[in-house]
Amino acid sequence: MCALMPSITPSMTAGGSAPREARTINTETHEEIIAMDELAVRARTLSEALPYIREFSGGTFVVKYGGSAMASASLSQAVMADVVLLRLVGVRVVLVHGGGPQVSDLMRRLGKEPTFVRGQRVTDAETMEIAEMVLAGKINKDIAAKIQMAGGQAVGLSGRDAGLIQARRRVMDSPEGPVDLGFVGQIESINAGLLSSLTEDGFIPVVCSIAGGADGECYNINADHAAGRIAAALHAEKLLSLTDVRGLLRDRSDPASLIARLTVSEAEALVREGQVEGGMVPKLESCVDAVKAGTAKAHIVDGRIEHALLMEVFTDAGIGTMVVPDGP
Ligand SMILES: Nc1ncnc2c1ncn2[C@@H]1O[C@H](COP(=O)(O)OP(=O)(O)OP(=O)(O)O)[C@@H](O)[C@H]1O
Ligand SMILES: [Mg+2]
Repeated sequence: MCALMPSITPSMTAGGSAPREARTINTETHEEIIAMDELAVRARTLSEALPYIREFSGGTFVVKYGGSAMASASLSQAVMADVVLLRLVGVRVVLVHGGGPQVSDLMRRLGKEPTFVRGQRVTDAETMEIAEMVLAGKINKDIAAKIQMAGGQAVGLSGRDAGLIQARRRVMDSPEGPVDLGFVGQIESINAGLLSSLTEDGFIPVVCSIAGGADGECYNINADHAAGRIAAALHAEKLLSLTDVRGLLRDRSDPASLIARLTVSEAEALVREGQVEGGMVPKLESCVDAVKAGTAKAHIVDGRIEHALLMEVFTDAGIGTMVVPDGP
């Protein structure tokens, strides 16, 4: 028997982990060779992430986690593990979450039919109450708990806390004239200082898109709009929106028609010309908002794929749609 590797003694293990048994690795067996190959692949993957870690460590990422991508509890837990990993390599992560399908679900259970205009929920007083219960009361706390379980320090916040998101009533323009959507807000200000203080101290703020108004009212904000404005206010390096499609599709019914990269002007044109619809409208608007404020890249990524976040951040290829500034 030929022992190519030296014995690994307990004193050689990393600090904090349980000491390993002293052992000798015999590279002669097929199983051992495969195990070594796997370790080598893992080590190479980690070392290939180094340039990205150096680039992004100390920077801020805003991750928008869409309600549509929350369908599976185990996948949701895996997303939070990725968020914690980003935090542990020094990225200051702010997580903004949606919960549209979950709000609609409770509305239906309570006998109300949800209605939308250009992707924005029409929000009467009762709908507002339901949205706050679901978003601030349930989903926000569930996500914060999942981050804790993954080893991060999460602080769950409503936009109404400490004036985090201040808004006024939004009246939407449409070809048929102005449309009153009820308690749908237009963001007026973001308390960026609060988020910076938290991320500076290593916390991961988890923000739901409920805003407060000067009038003491509560407003429903589209979570993508909130994420875009937060990314802009924090001068984030990246905005990453995890959703339930591959990215922006030229033909919504054809997943193969993914648009991998587009400029701010191209994104604005698609929205203006009505070529995108539903929840993709505020999503593209938020990418435009962030990139115009200095965010280098905004991404729309398929949150149904395990480790989509890491694939987008730590590889050159990218897997979704990327919105970049105009120019070369
Ligand atoms: N051109 C398009 N390409 C891709 N998706 C599109 C397009 N036009 C509309 N959509 C719709 O946008 C949806 C994503 O937005 P949606 O608001 O439903 O999810 P989300 O923003 O991830 O979740 P939440 O609203 O809960 O935060 C997709 O499921 C798709 O049906
Ligand atoms: Mg949405």
